[in-house]
Amino acid sequence: MSRQIIVGNWKMNGLSKDSTARTEAILSALPDTAVDIVICPPFTQLAAIASLTANSPVACGAQDCHMESKGAFTGDISPEMLADLGVSHVILGHSERRQTHGEIDETVREKTVAAIKAGLTPIVCIGETEDQRETGQAEDVLGWQIKGSLPDGFNGILAYEPIWAIGTGLAATTSDITDAMTFLRAELVRQFGENGKTIQILYGGSVNAGNASEILAIPDVAGALVGGASLDPEAFLTIVRAASAH
Ligand code: PGA
Repeated sequence: MSRQIIVGNWKMNGLSKDSTARTEAILSALPDTAVDIVICPPFTQLAAIASLTANSPVACGAQDCHMESKGAFTGDISPEMLADLGVSHVILGHSERRQTHGEIDETVREKTVAAIKAGLTPIVCIGETEDQRETGQAEDVLGWQIKGSLPDGFNGILAYEPIWAIGTGLAATTSDITDAMTFLRAELVRQFGENGKTIQILYGGSVNAGNASEILAIPDVAGALVGGASLDPEAFLTIVRAASAH
């Protein structure tokens, strides 16, 4: 198995002081084993955190970007601007943006294309709602999200985040995740051929210090996208150590 990836999604949390302290706590206690770590602070902290993590094993990511490189888009941030700060990754199509900012698959795909063009590694999120799961539509929804959100030749990271597991403290079970991974891999190969075999798939949704080890041991899980638990350096580092053990 290649190195696992642990991504911390801070969402809209982090003022200067606590963002710096959190990052320093992570940097000072990194295990010296093979795991890729990405922390994604809010836009306002990106410059500071990108500079703190420069020349360290921790990469800095953003939580969104625009699909254009510049122009009259008040309040937006382009992928070129992120790359200019030393940011290397960007989360795209997170369900919170799909749900509250009207992002549809096409928006996500355009942003993904733009991010790749700017040299960033996109982490594209997909996931079904509780209702879709209960009515047996989960696989159809995931298949359509892959088709709509990932451009041809996609070589970034996919994050499977069942919406019912995000921020609820109720992670998907090992058997749910195993089934989803099997489906997603088959779907990626069906849609992308040979390329689909190597796209890395993260799991996200209530990953914490207690369940990380079990989740990261599931075949084909390439790592985790961690929200709430990434705000606590101790919990985040426990998850990082769990990843490096696989
Ligand atoms: P959570 O969030 O770990 O707090 O469930 C995950 C995410 O939204 O990326």
